Amino acid sequence: SKHRIAVIAGDGIGQEVMPEGLRVLEAAASRFNIELQFDHFDFSSCDYFERHGKMLPDDWKDQIGGHEAIYFGAVGWPDKVPDHISLWGSLLLFRREFDQYVNIRPAKLMPGVTAPVVRRDGSPRLAGEIDMVIVRENTEGEYSSIGGRMYPGTEREIVVQETVMSRIGVDRVLRYAFEVARSRPKKHLTSATKSNGIAITMPYWDERVAEMAKQYPDVRVDKFHIDILTAHFVQRPDFFDVVVGSNLFGDILSDLGPACTGTIGIAPSANLNPDRTHPSLFEPVHGSAPDIAGRQIANPIGQIWCGAMMLDFLGHRAAHDAVMQAIESVLSPGSGAPRTPDLGGSAQTSDVGKAIEQALLGA
Ligand code: NAI
Ligand code: MG
Repeated sequence: SKHRIAVIAGDGIGQEVMPEGLRVLEAAASRFNIELQFDHFDFSSCDYFERHGKMLPDDWKDQIGGHEAIYFGAVGWPDKVPDHISLWGSLLLFRREFDQYVNIRPAKLMPGVTAPVVRRDGSPRLAGEIDMVIVRENTEGEYSSIGGRMYPGTEREIVVQETVMSRIGVDRVLRYAFEVARSRPKKHLTSATKSNGIAITMPYWDERVAEMAKQYPDVRVDKFHIDILTAHFVQRPDFFDVVVGSNLFGDILSDLGPACTGTIGIAPSANLNPDRTHPSLFEPVHGSAPDIAGRQIANPIGQIWCGAMMLDFLGHRAAHDAVMQAIESVLSPGSGAPRTPDLGGSAQTSDVGKAIEQALLGA
């Protein structure tokens, strides 16, 4: 059956990396006999804002809500629209309105990429040595709108913002994380906590982890307080497999993980609605990169990798694996394949996209 995908390239380099993502998806579709229908939308961009005074049309939910997935580039152009307006008016709305309660980011050290974190003895980490998936709760927790400001502008000023954890909200993201852990060879799940300091919500989180763990006796579970956990990410990233955290802790770890594995240009992410009641969204970790936009030097691999994640989510595991293999073969040192400047090469964005397409088609 045909998969309907809403394509939103957005701003800046989103416009440059998206065609490469689509190129590779088309190639995967033809090799694996998958029917993909791409519907392009120009909203959720600062250009759209300039023309319409808002980020989205009023009927945006009708326009993209029926798609299975949203393939997203990047949004944001601070010179035109303040970041909080562009982000809250688009991406963050999608997450909440489409109930994308899992944010997932793989952090894997790829061949041909030098990790900024080294071993204790100072030697470099090897490809594959770091291979983890960070699972972040994406709809509640510390990012609530419950709270307020009293006596503003006076000496007595008080600000309060509550953390909200619901049993349904915590359990559903934990279940997802346990399932991911179970599906991987190491079957190891680490929970990020801070139950020594945050004495109500975090002990609750720990309690739900322990409860869920009973249903997954095959998964090895441990937990670390977020402060030491960040140190472990840097000092022994090879220890981790799947790491799950609340909205705030997951946010921090999901930037730190990819940072430990090299360039931001290759890191992918997905905002998932595992119940499939609304579309899930697949986007690279990076933003619109105004500093390099318009020069065809952006690395398209982050965009292409999220395309692979999307194929996996749509049920096409073999196509996912083939795209990943193509990416790895192009990144491999000695492959002679083109590399963008962030990886020390001088190739253009589309050169890299074409090389991955060729590798995928076995040409
Ligand atoms: P950024 O990720 O756009 O850029 C950070 C640095 O990484 C820049 O030096 C950039 O040149 C480099 N970089 C990013 N992607 C690259 C790629 N594919 N290849 C090579 N180099 C790459 O983050 P920044 O500059 O903080 O934000 C720029 C705009 O993007 C802002 O408006 C921000 O709000 C927005 N943004 C949007 C995101 C999204 O759409 N999910 C995520 C992060 C930022
Ligand atoms: Mg973040």
